[in-house]
Amino acid sequence: GLKKKEVNVLCLGLDNSGKTTIINQLKPSNAQAQDIVPTIGFSIEKFKTSSLSFTVFDMSGQGRYRNLWEHYYKEGQAIIFVIDSSDKLRMVVAKEELDTLLNHPDVKHRRIPILFFANKMDLRDALSSVKVSQLLCLENIKDKPWHICASNAVQGEGLQEGVDWLQDQIR
Ligand code: GTP
Ligand code: MG
Repeated sequence: GLKKKEVNVLCLGLDNSGKTTIINQLKPSNAQAQDIVPTIGFSIEKFKTSSLSFTVFDMSGQGRYRNLWEHYYKEGQAIIFVIDSSDKLRMVVAKEELDTLLNHPDVKHRRIPILFFANKMDLRDALSSVKVSQLLCLENIKDKPWHICASNAVQGEGLQEGVDWLQDQIR
C-alpha cells in the first residue's frame, strides 16, 4: 500500500500538563501504556492518522529538563503544546516557556503549525480554551498556523479534533 508521510512532532508544555497522557491516547489501544509516570528527559513515540505517520518527541516538562527542548526544534515539523487549564498559578510560566519557544532562532521564522491543547477541561476549576488562549496571547502569533482545542486526555475527549487540524496543516 501507500506509505504514509513521516512527520516529526514535538510535544511541549509544563510538567503535569498531560503531554504523555495525550500521546498515549493517540496510539493504537494495543500499544497504550496502562499507567503513566512523569517523563524523564524525553520519550520517542509513534502514532498514525489516515494520511500521516507521526514520530513524537514527548519531552519532559520539568524545569530541570526544559533546556533539552531546544535541541529538537530543528527536527520538529509541527508542535503540540499542552496546557493544564486548571493550573492558573503556572499559566504565566507556561506563557514564558511558549514565548521562549516562539522566539528561538530554530522556530521564529518557520511557518510551523502549533496545536494547543487546553487540557484537563474535566476539572471543575479549568479555564475555557478561549480564556487560556487570551492568557497566552495566542492572537499575537501571526506567522504560524495555530489552533487550540479543549481536551480531557484521560477520557480522550477533544484529541481527534486537534489531530485532524494538524493533519490538514501538513498535508
Ligand atoms: P511530564 O512528563 O512531567 O512533563 O508531565 P506530562 O505533561 O507528560 O503529564 P502526564 O501525562 O504525565 O499527566 C500528569 C497527570 O495529569 C497524570 O496524573 C494524568 O493522569 C493527569 N491528567 C492528564 N490529562 C488529564 C486530563 O485531561 N484531566 C485530568 N483530570 N487529569 C489529567
Ligand atoms: Mg510526560
